[in-house]
Amino acid sequence: MKNIIVLVSGGGTNLQALIDSEKSGEIKGGKITCVISSNPNAYALERAKNNDIPSRVIPRKEYPDSVSYSEAILEALNEEKADLVVLAGFMTILDECVTRAYAYKIINVHPALIPSFCGEGYYGLRVHEAALAYGVKVSGATIHFVNEKADAGAIILQGTVAVENDDTPETLQRRIMENVEWKLLPKAVSLFCQDRIEIIDGKAYVTE
Ligand code: GAR
Repeated sequence: MKNIIVLVSGGGTNLQALIDSEKSGEIKGGKITCVISSNPNAYALERAKNNDIPSRVIPRKEYPDSVSYSEAILEALNEEKADLVVLAGFMTILDECVTRAYAYKIINVHPALIPSFCGEGYYGLRVHEAALAYGVKVSGATIHFVNEKADAGAIILQGTVAVENDDTPETLQRRIMENVEWKLLPKAVSLFCQDRIEIIDGKAYVTE
């Protein structure tokens, strides 16, 4: 059984999707053993508590820079004996001290079709605002490994939704979460826990 550590900052609907998938047996070979939040007020912490999952708060505000914050995260991940780290709405970019120590062991969900609308500054509703401002007709979400560059690691899974003429950032966000994020994130986690993601030349391939 792999230890899955989920990093969160906000509402935690993706965490909830992971919890529900674990309960229904959809996540094979792994168990969520700890939730770590960068935000003491994140509703995601309630979700962990309601499901008897241990949690830790490592407030981003208490650290002067990304390096010192990442060192604290790294220490916690080591203590928790993390086999897989899932960034589920985690709004802090991790320094390479973490991404190197956990290379191809950190998975992120990004709410757009990478390489569009991604990188520094693109998070949460801002991503959907940018997609609507551009006028794209499809958007979606990407599940990818995390490396030292923001949203640039190997892509594991992607899924799309249609953009409607009357979409707001909120309606587009919701459609992408319901139809893509909440389905593909648990799927990718399960594939990882079954050792079914192969890396060849820096790209990820799902194997049978
Ligand atoms: C999700 O849409 C996730 O894809 C996005 O923030 C939301 C968090 O929702 N993540 C990013 O933008 C990361 N760059 P949640 O807390 O309800 O899971």
